[in-house]
Amino acid sequence: MILLAPSILSADFSRLGEEVSAVEAAGAQYLHIDVMDGHFVPNISFGAPVMKSIRKMSQMVFDVHLMISDPLRYIDDFAAAGADIITFHIGCSSDIDETLDKIKSHNIKCGLAVNPDIPAERLFPYRDKIDMALIMSVFAGFGGQSYIDGVNAKIQAARTFFGPDFDIEVDGGINLTNKTVPIANGANVLVAGTAIFGAQSPKEAVCSFLNETEI
Ligand code: DX5
Ligand code: ZN
Repeated sequence: MILLAPSILSADFSRLGEEVSAVEAAGAQYLHIDVMDGHFVPNISFGAPVMKSIRKMSQMVFDVHLMISDPLRYIDDFAAAGADIITFHIGCSSDIDETLDKIKSHNIKCGLAVNPDIPAERLFPYRDKIDMALIMSVFAGFGGQSYIDGVNAKIQAARTFFGPDFDIEVDGGINLTNKTVPIANGANVLVAGTAIFGAQSPKEAVCSFLNETEI
């Protein structure tokens, strides 16, 4: 089964509650929450207080993607704000094992992400500690970029290594036209921002994603 994670980075923040309700009503299982600090990536998005506000009105799985330099410092905040999964990047400055342990100490799932220039193999030593691998199909930092086909081999390598029951999420540049590409290469969790919240009807976009991606 394919899980869809609409990214609120592309939502209209002046109507954030309505945007979240629309994708939830349409059947999206995850809500992808892109946190950027202007340091690990050039862009700044939002932090735990924004997430805490929408936690009150949504039952979706809150899939937090930390694009920040020192995730360890903020795990407690995002756990308290209602995260269900916290993913951070290989290449950040926090100690990876310590950060994974910290996430686990809150009884929430953890994931590790790799940008397009980092090999999937860098995730492999953490197999027994992580619940999800995130393969970036654009360089983290901005919504609205184009899917990099060069990551397809990495998705395949991750699927082969982690096996059939593991969550492999792909993030960046996925739309209704190319969504079968990450799936065919082994992804089971798809992030989509622009293709959902940039659509005239986010609700219909979610339905199209889910109906047409059922396997
Ligand atoms: C990029 C973010 C993505 C982004 C996806 O740094 O991690 O989650 O919001 O947006 P689209 O679907 O527009 O590429
Ligand atoms: Zn993301």
